[in-house]
Amino acid sequence: MTVLITGGAGYIGSHMTLALLARGRRAIVLDDLSTGSRDAVPVGAPLIVGDVADEALVLRLIAEHGVTAIAHFAARIVVPDSIRDPLGTYMANTMKTAQLLRAATAAGAPHFIFSSTAAVYGLLPPTPTPETAPLEPASPYGASKLMSERILSDAAAAHRLRYVVLRYFNVAGADPQMRTGQRAAGASNLITLATRAALGMTDGLDILGTDLPTPDGTGVRDYIHVSDLADAHVAALEHLEAGGDSATLNCGYGRGFSVREVIDAVRRAAGHDFPVREKPRREGDPFISIADARAIRATLDWTPKLDDLDVIVAHALEWERHYWGAEERKRLWTARRAAG
Ligand code: UD1
Repeated sequence: MTVLITGGAGYIGSHMTLALLARGRRAIVLDDLSTGSRDAVPVGAPLIVGDVADEALVLRLIAEHGVTAIAHFAARIVVPDSIRDPLGTYMANTMKTAQLLRAATAAGAPHFIFSSTAAVYGLLPPTPTPETAPLEPASPYGASKLMSERILSDAAAAHRLRYVVLRYFNVAGADPQMRTGQRAAGASNLITLATRAALGMTDGLDILGTDLPTPDGTGVRDYIHVSDLADAHVAALEHLEAGGDSATLNCGYGRGFSVREVIDAVRRAAGHDFPVREKPRREGDPFISIADARAIRATLDWTPKLDDLDVIVAHALEWERHYWGAEERKRLWTARRAAG
């Protein structure tokens, strides 16, 4: 009953590994460390450095460790990078998912949890967005995930495999015990950028668009705490193990906050102000992205525990402070000043 976690050295995968170990489950991590960090892998989960598309390796791991479920997090996730390098994105996300599934089905591992994204819905979905909304990804990233969903569903129909696809909305925060969090220096998501600005690691935050058709003119997102998201993965696994049907579920709380509301929450958590500049909107950004989150609650035994923007932001800020440390912040600050 071991769970193979691909991308377990990354941000969300490391949280799921912790959540599994906390329930007394066995987990092994397969990660090529291209973006993940060795020190993100929780003690208690062996790390195998390798490629998810290495069929012989995956077959061996499944056999040696008695793997009955695969949680597949390993992917390229940066939308602008996917536009610059669509083929690399399709190779890394779609092709490798197919290869991983080939090994999973050949070895008879019966359960599969797949990390998908709200980006499958495109730029103007109905809000809140149900799972049945039109699937119109606006980027190679979203398309690569949608194609993987299709491949997974076809593979499940042909083989003895059941799955849960989780479509993440905006994931943020860090493990409340500060064992793991966002380690990518180049992370580009709003809450990480805002907390780094509040800590003086950057010269401030740009609001990307103040004239959007939203209540305060800035983008609205459904921010979900990464530890609640990790628990949703464990609940998805338990659903499959209890004989539940395959399912595709949104992961969000079903409510949205604007960029200005996030900035206010970061100011409250930091206890001080930080520089904010108003800039033009980012091309290709949806104005509003909020999950219709009823299906996940109806299908899985999952009750979020950290559904509070102030908590999400406080954990993100504490992590940044803890992880980067004062010396590193000073180094980044000096480097930024030298770069002009
Ligand atoms: C995020 C994910 C994307 C995923 C999508 C799902 C990241 C980096 N991107 O994109 O992979 O597919 O959710 O819907 O996690 N903003 C600013 N200033 C900034 C950065 C962002 O104002 O410096 C605004 C954006 O315009 C947006 C909001 O903050 O309104 C959130 O942006 P971001 O954190 O980048 O996430 P998404 O673009 O929603």
